[in-house]
Amino acid sequence: MSRLNGRVRDAFLVVGIAVGLTFPVAVQGDEVGGEGVVIPSSVPGGGLEYVGTDECLDCHEDLEQSFSRNLHSKASYWNANAVGCEDCHGPGSAHAEEGGDVRLGSPADLVARASDAVCLTCHDGELNRSYWRGSDHEQLEVTCVSCHSVHSNFEHMLNNPDQSETCFKCHTDQRTFTFKRSFHPLTDSTRKDGLGKMTCSSCHNAHGSQSEKLLAANTVNELCYECHAEMQAPVLWEHSPVKENCLNCHSPHGSNYPNLLVTQRTRLCQECHEAGRHQSLAGENISFMVLNRSCNNCHAQVHGSNHPAGLKLKR
Ligand code: HEC
Ligand code: HEC
Ligand code: HEC
Ligand code: HEC
Ligand code: HEC
Ligand code: HEC
Ligand code: HEC
Ligand code: HEC
Ligand code: HEC
Ligand code: HEC
Repeated sequence: MSRLNGRVRDAFLVVGIAVGLTFPVAVQGDEVGGEGVVIPSSVPGGGLEYVGTDECLDCHEDLEQSFSRNLHSKASYWNANAVGCEDCHGPGSAHAEEGGDVRLGSPADLVARASDAVCLTCHDGELNRSYWRGSDHEQLEVTCVSCHSVHSNFEHMLNNPDQSETCFKCHTDQRTFTFKRSFHPLTDSTRKDGLGKMTCSSCHNAHGSQSEKLLAANTVNELCYECHAEMQAPVLWEHSPVKENCLNCHSPHGSNYPNLLVTQRTRLCQECHEAGRHQSLAGENISFMVLNRSCNNCHAQVHGSNHPAGLKLKR
């Protein structure tokens, strides 16, 4: 406990001073703090004492109820490293003595690396496993508290009950996809809360990933197969762009063309099959082959065929 607290406090002191928060010198030398925490004299700027969660709650009664439902307070029932207020806010004796007049601050007031360091004192293991370090988000100083609000009590302590909204705050262009005609069920207008069957984290790992675009799988296709397993099965007659990458034809977030297609069907097929016996050719009359559902009218098995005579993907 004291080792953990020491690391949290160090982060606060060093960076707190750098960003101009007031950390007055409360005690000097090796002394025993309110919760029996030894404050070493080597800490820059002297030491501040821990007063303990109970004392914080004396003045912050409003937080008492919400904090008792927070996983961080629940963790204390089984975890020796009980997460108290000061594990995140740093030692609060000066703040408490002055009745709040001396600012305490929170991880949200710190520069990115230092802010994350507070959370990572405890969450290092799992975040490392999910490749947080070096991820797009970590590199561009998106911090834990950009997405999480530990006082929120929403699912996973995100800062919005709708996970997508957490992301749309920055990825505004992604919001537009959810209004398109064809989309993955991230929203559901028939439900009261409007939340759909899927979330961004069905496909992405916001913390980091081994693959590009923070995908929650090694490749795009492996990701799609997780839910569209029927596409994974080997087929007698493959359509090679399907096995290569589903995104050759589909737009994962949404599209105004049916079935999440990247473009209009006739055009889609003819982007690759530009010359042949029945495609439309530039300068010639439009082929009757592209009417209505177009090429799919005959080549219905675009994802591959298992019919002995399915070579041309017609059955
Ligand atoms: C897991 C880390 C963590 C713990 C534990 C924690 N806080 Fe916070 N607290 C934060 C962060 C981060 C903020 C900044 C606002 C935000 O992100 O929600 C904050 C904000 C606050 C605020 C500012 C007002 C507000 O709601 O924004 C108060 C007051 C506060 N915390 C008091 C407490 C008290 C009292 C406790 C213990 C009962 C506590 N905190 C436990 C991380 C924590
Ligand atoms: C004696 C009463 C008192 C005690 C004890 C107390 N606070 Fe506060 N705290 C206040 C008041 C009053 C404010 C509002 C100050 C303001 O709005 O300017 C405040 C504001 C805060 C804030 C937001 C502003 C800031 O300073 O960053 C945080 C975070 C906070 N308290 C955390 C804590 C924590 C953690 C503890 C326990 C270590 C604690 N408080 C103990 C009275 C107290
Ligand atoms: C870009 C947004 C974002 C950032 C930044 C972020 N998280 Fe998360 N975090 C999420 C989402 C979304 C989930 C829910 C994942 C799910 O539904 O499976 C989550 C879940 C978690 C969980 C629950 C366990 C789990 O992995 O499912 C923990 C713990 C956690 N985050 C800690 C952190 C810490 C610590 C940091 C900073 C180092 C951080 N997160 C940064 C979005 C974020
Ligand atoms: C002193 C240790 C400690 C610190 C500091 C800490 N946490 Fe936690 N956190 C825990 C424990 C213990 C749990 C509960 C067990 C678990 O899920 O790992 C937890 C759980 C979580 C969860 C999971 C919620 C869920 O519903 O799955 C999130 C998200 C989270 N913490 C975010 C944060 C963020 C953000 C910070 C920094 C502002 C932070 N934590 C700081 C120890 C800590
Ligand atoms: C505080 C702002 C912020 C929030 C909130 C946020 N992101 Fe990001 N995200 C960024 C930045 C900045 C980048 C890197 C620049 C870029 O490529 O757009 C990024 C990159 C990404 C990328 C990789 C883009 C690429 O081109 O490689 C994905 C995927 C992503 N975010 C998903 C999410 C998801 C899912 C959430 C919600 C759980 C989320 N983001 C929340 C700011 C944010
Ligand atoms: C069905 C799976 C799926 C869902 C759900 C999903 N994404 Fe994606 N996302 C992808 C794939 C696949 C890519 C990679 C696109 C590429 O490689 O060109 C991607 C790429 C991205 C990118 C990088 C920019 C781009 O368009 O290439 C961002 C940012 C992003 N997604 C954010 C989000 C957010 C925010 C949500 C939730 C609202 C979300 N995604 C939901 C599959 C998904
Ligand atoms: C987490 C599960 C999941 C993942 C991963 C997933 N999907 Fe989906 N997909 C769904 C669900 C659910 C539907 C909606 C089915 C329905 O409405 O009947 C759907 C529908 C579709 C549709 C049909 C849309 C329509 O309007 O008819 C296409 C095309 C599609 N997904 C392609 C993809 C591609 C490409 C990927 C990989 C980038 C992917 N999916 C990843 C769950 C998933
Ligand atoms: C060569 C273009 C192309 C590629 C590549 C492709 N699709 Fe499709 N997909 C289509 C077309 C065209 C439709 C509409 C079919 C129809 O209306 O009969 C479709 C429809 C779908 C549908 C909804 C209707 C259905 O048949 O269930 C899903 C789900 C789907 N694709 C998933 C995938 C997945 C997963 C991948 C990657 C493994 C993939 N697609 C690769 C062209 C493609
Ligand atoms: C990304 C490029 C691409 C797209 C888009 C595409 N195809 Fe293909 N298609 C191929 C390739 C590559 C082959 C294999 C050609 C070969 O083996 O000579 C192929 C093979 C075929 C074959 C079998 C040809 C043969 O000679 O055996 C048919 C039929 C076909 N595609 C129809 C379609 C239809 C219909 C669409 C639109 C839904 C479509 N393709 C979209 C690239 C594409
Ligand atoms: C009216 C039915 C029909 C429509 C519509 C149709 N095709 Fe075909 N397609 C055929 C037949 C029949 C063959 C020859 C099959 C065979 O030899 O077994 C064929 C063969 C092909 C081949 C194999 C190479 C070749 O030229 O012989 C490709 C590629 C192809 N079609 C692509 C397309 C594309 C792209 C479209 C949409 C522009 C399209 N087809 C629309 C019936 C159709």
